[in-house]
Amino acid sequence: MKDIVLSGIRPTGNLHLGNYYGAVRSFVKMQEEYQCYFFIADWHSLTTHPTPENIQRSARTILAEYLACGIDPEKATIYIQSDVPETIELYLYLNMNTYIGELGRVTTFKEKARQQPDNVNAGLFTYPTLMAADILQHRAKWVPVGKDQEQNMEMARKCARRFNNIYKTELFPEPQNYYFGGDALKVPGLDGSGKMGKSDGNCIYLCDEEKVVRKKVMRAVTDNGPETPNSPKPEVIQNLFTMMSIVSEPETVAFFDEKWNDCSLRYGDMKKQLAEDMVKTLNPIRERIQEFSSNTELLDRIAKMGAEKARESAAATLREVRKTIGFRVY
Ligand code: TRP
Repeated sequence: MKDIVLSGIRPTGNLHLGNYYGAVRSFVKMQEEYQCYFFIADWHSLTTHPTPENIQRSARTILAEYLACGIDPEKATIYIQSDVPETIELYLYLNMNTYIGELGRVTTFKEKARQQPDNVNAGLFTYPTLMAADILQHRAKWVPVGKDQEQNMEMARKCARRFNNIYKTELFPEPQNYYFGGDALKVPGLDGSGKMGKSDGNCIYLCDEEKVVRKKVMRAVTDNGPETPNSPKPEVIQNLFTMMSIVSEPETVAFFDEKWNDCSLRYGDMKKQLAEDMVKTLNPIRERIQEFSSNTELLDRIAKMGAEKARESAAATLREVRKTIGFRVY
């Protein structure tokens, strides 16, 4: 039996290069080795009250982008959270064993409550138990998550442990954080910040048109240029080089590195080259995104197939859960 991996993404906008090199590209490899569930957490996005059109469009967008990146619905189970009602039943049971004290201490909740003081809803409060239900319904062993999700993962483990303890069972394995290690690359932002993804202004999206990519790269933050030979690069310039090392050939990076070292580097030239290589990397992905996005019938078929597989796995767990709690199994 292959280990089970589960990853969830809230559908808020388009995938950017940071998502791609930081995670999605690794998912494409993982689907060969693990039993993978990649799902789109559209219920979770309700915590901030999006419109119905928004909900449907965002889920389809991520689905098309995942497929375009090479996630294969024959190998992995790719599904939309709201297509799997079993999750809600488990969410209800987990909520019965989760205490308001511990939910109130979750920092992402406290932050959100500060951001949207007029909408501190119960769904927001129980976000961690819904996430635990996502994970535990498949009895997943590994969950690739970023630093910001560690507390939610701790809650998921607590839910598993507590259920097992209360009912004297070993039904739920404790899900572990999965780290990609060297496989994942951290893509810097275009605004000179360390990370792509913090704000729109510093992102290149996988679906960006060629001319948009070029414009964004040409506008990337730089400084006055090298002044002393062989000096260390300031962060904003290092970022440019890091980006180049991701999308360009090593010789290209070495060429500009030499220019930096002898103080003859002109950022405009370097950015032009970077834009060129980025466009080359992104073109095939963007074309596939367009193909998938325009084929809603195919997207719906893939979503349906994923939902069936996910429901089968979740239903098997829920049967055990119902039996364990003392409910009739239907
Ligand atoms: N909370 C995650 C995020 O914001 C998304 C998510 C929802 C998730 N359910 C999950 C991630 C289950 C992993 C497993 O990024």
